Amino acid sequence: MCSSDLLSVSPECYPLMKKGGLADVVGALPGALAPHDVDMRVLMPAYPGVRERLTDVSTVGPLSKGFGGDARIVTGEFGETRVLLVDAPHLFDRPGGPYLGPDGRDWPDNHRRFGALSRAAADLALGDVVLPDGWRPDVVHLHDWQAALTAAYLRFDRRAATAPPTVLTIHNLAFQGVFPRASAIELGLPSQAMLPEGAEYWGSLSFLKAGVQWCDRITTVSPTYAREILTPEHGMGFDGLLRLRAEHLTGIVNGLDTTVWDPSTDPYLVAPYSSRRLHPKAENKRALQTELGLDVRDESPLFCVVSRLTTQKGLDLLLEALEHVLWRGAQCAVLGTGDPLLELTFRKAALVRPEQIAAVIGYDEALAHRLQAGADAIVVPSRFEPCGLTQLSGLRYGTLPVVSRVGGLADTVIDANEAALRDGVGTGFVFSPVDAHQLGVALDRACDVFFDRPRWQRMQRRAMTRDVGWDASAEAYREIYASLRRA
Ligand code: ADP
Ligand code: GLC
Repeated sequence: MCSSDLLSVSPECYPLMKKGGLADVVGALPGALAPHDVDMRVLMPAYPGVRERLTDVSTVGPLSKGFGGDARIVTGEFGETRVLLVDAPHLFDRPGGPYLGPDGRDWPDNHRRFGALSRAAADLALGDVVLPDGWRPDVVHLHDWQAALTAAYLRFDRRAATAPPTVLTIHNLAFQGVFPRASAIELGLPSQAMLPEGAEYWGSLSFLKAGVQWCDRITTVSPTYAREILTPEHGMGFDGLLRLRAEHLTGIVNGLDTTVWDPSTDPYLVAPYSSRRLHPKAENKRALQTELGLDVRDESPLFCVVSRLTTQKGLDLLLEALEHVLWRGAQCAVLGTGDPLLELTFRKAALVRPEQIAAVIGYDEALAHRLQAGADAIVVPSRFEPCGLTQLSGLRYGTLPVVSRVGGLADTVIDANEAALRDGVGTGFVFSPVDAHQLGVALDRACDVFFDRPRWQRMQRRAMTRDVGWDASAEAYREIYASLRRA
């Protein structure tokens, strides 16, 4: 096996900046790939406070384009991972989120901000900026639209023929990085880049389209989603384009960072537990019910949600569906933030039935762990789900997933139908189509098994011993990198 030097380019990386599962994946990949002889370094923006968390820091640059100010690379260590930051204070050093300002709207200069991230990746790939230890990537791995313009910069460089190959991972096709056509000039793209067979998208510029056109390989985060996005139903306008590149598209399911998500060592839990010592899970449940003001009852099936509250996640279906099971004593605890109307709806439901429904509106890492440990089941009724990570942590914590049959949810949860229960393979409850009635039926089925305690515990143990780690998927990425280097 020969080693690879990988540059992973992303707007998020756990725990330095996280809005969703993208951060978890980008944060876990370097550690997952290290045993496969891949030296992966992560390039991300220098958001406020990130630089301060690195050790052994040094600065190189300037970068070829700063888009309105000076830009450099700051490199340092974070734990075992070498992190490279695009240090451009005029673009990244401001209060607010990575994508949205304090007013909840997209930053108006997002094209420049993620153009700068992509340009920095191209500078590193082409050797225009060299790190203090002389490291240069031999493959560049781009994550989502925010990094995808790198492919255009490399494609139109006069040294394109000798530039390292690129992989684009689509974590969510719903986000396509679309900006007015005029921004292409500002970003230094040549006019050929804006042809229909280039990055032009319905008269605008799409960063993601640049990546889809010009990356050597495309991956997405589950085999089912890889198939779904080739169809008009799930292709979000990109299906035709993706079909043209189908032979270069692979679905690789995400893993879970099993050091961060381990119920036997999780520092956030009141009582650690494992598949062999399952009974302390009940203590976590009681603590959670107490914390959230729910009735403290072992015999109530407690469903939880840990999610962004958006149309994607299908949580607008949950309250109606819960009517199927609240009369059976079920409880539901929601942790999430997003759509203000949904936030309000959950808050109201919790006010009306505080003993059965709890809603915590916000982002809270520690509570996410306590919910996974204390709840009996986790609900993920997504309309589409490229992979999903909370059903994986649910499996690992014996918190059985109730999921819609889409994308990575379909690939990672085995429905406990009669046949599966007989064969001893079911790990959760899978429903389709995605509507409130079918979700309600699935919740009801979960309650049936919950009240049959030995059966439920057998399912929990099975779920907890399923392999949800990174090994197999890291090997799949390594193979892609190796094939690109050979080519
Ligand atoms: P997505 O990336 O589409 O939001 P994933 O399931 O892939 O969905 O990843 C979501 C990640 O964010 C998980 O690690 C989950 O635990 C975490 N998460 C989501 N919402 C919250 C929240 N409100 N508080 C804490 N963690 C959250
Ligand atoms: C996206 C998807 C989610 C996936 C995550 C990490 O945010 O919505 O399904 O798990 O990326 O790949």
